[in-house]
Amino acid sequence: MEISEAWIRSIPKAEVHVHLEGGFELIDILDLAKSAGESLPGPARSLFDVATHFEGGVVHPPLDPSDSSSAEATGLGSFLQFLDWQCGLIRTAEQAARHAYRFAARQSGSGVSYTDVIVNPTHWSAWRGREPELLDALAKGLDEAEQDGLCTVNLCVSLLRQQSADEGSEVARWIARDRPNRVVALSIDGDERAAGRTGARFAEAFTIARDAGIHRTVHAGESSGPEGVWDALDLLHAERIDHGVRAVDDPALLARLADSDVSLGVCPRSNIVLGLYPDWAHHPLRALQEAGVTVTLNTDDPAPLGTRLEAEWAKAAQVWEWQPGDVTALAHTSIDASFAPVSLKQALHAEIDAVQPPV
Ligand code: ADE
Ligand code: ZN
Repeated sequence: MEISEAWIRSIPKAEVHVHLEGGFELIDILDLAKSAGESLPGPARSLFDVATHFEGGVVHPPLDPSDSSSAEATGLGSFLQFLDWQCGLIRTAEQAARHAYRFAARQSGSGVSYTDVIVNPTHWSAWRGREPELLDALAKGLDEAEQDGLCTVNLCVSLLRQQSADEGSEVARWIARDRPNRVVALSIDGDERAAGRTGARFAEAFTIARDAGIHRTVHAGESSGPEGVWDALDLLHAERIDHGVRAVDDPALLARLADSDVSLGVCPRSNIVLGLYPDWAHHPLRALQEAGVTVTLNTDDPAPLGTRLEAEWAKAAQVWEWQPGDVTALAHTSIDASFAPVSLKQALHAEIDAVQPPV
């Protein structure tokens, strides 16, 4: 049976691994660049191709995907620089609030009822030293969206792997002290391979978050191997791992994950575009599930990756021959894995149970 995008849209669900930085559509970037008086780093028609070979505003020729020895072979470093450039175009609180509002609307369009969105203030260069103002503007946009009946979106404030221990702890203390509106979690993202093994560096920050009752989600096992996932569990008290796909290389780690409540927020298209796996057939999502690991399926950076959540779920359903029950089970898992309030989780589980099967 073919599982259509329309049927997937009809299923209430959560998305738990998606970046606000990955929500800028081409038209948004064009408008923002015009307002900021900035020129584009490449032709509009291929701006998102540029993202995977971008360096400091200079476009380089495409990388050699067969060169897996180079950190750049994943394309992640260039991609993150592109996000820096693009988020640097947001200069006013109104622009930030509007971006957050549009993000919530986009999620609603995919039938997403709840989202934990990651925001990494280091990408938003105009807000250096004014990060609380940025967060406040984003939360205002999300409040307005919720009042308008759109997707409920909460924020996971993210550290960058290259930051120092002191910077990380300062962010954690700020969140623990001020409890900014809509912030539910401390996160860490960025290029693990370029930063080196940095679990110990951020242990204090994540311990502060845990002790203050703030959730934790950690990018690991994307550009790092299984050791990054071990560190996320042992040092950073992760409740969720973003990506975590490299856990598949370590049977002891798979057993640890299967035995725990920790889920992996998997994003196959992102992994493929950034060069981790050649195609969907080689992606380890099914192997992770077969090992008993709890897995959710997410978009990561939907706009530059040219996708939407329902397209990702439909593609996975086709590749791994899922039945409708596998898809509704995934929806339930997405709710359980989220940091949504318990009452909302209960309501969404009931709504999923009421979804009609596909015809
Ligand atoms: N920030 C946005 N997308 C990311 C990814 N795939 N890995 C790490 N950091 C990110
Ligand atoms: Zn991510």
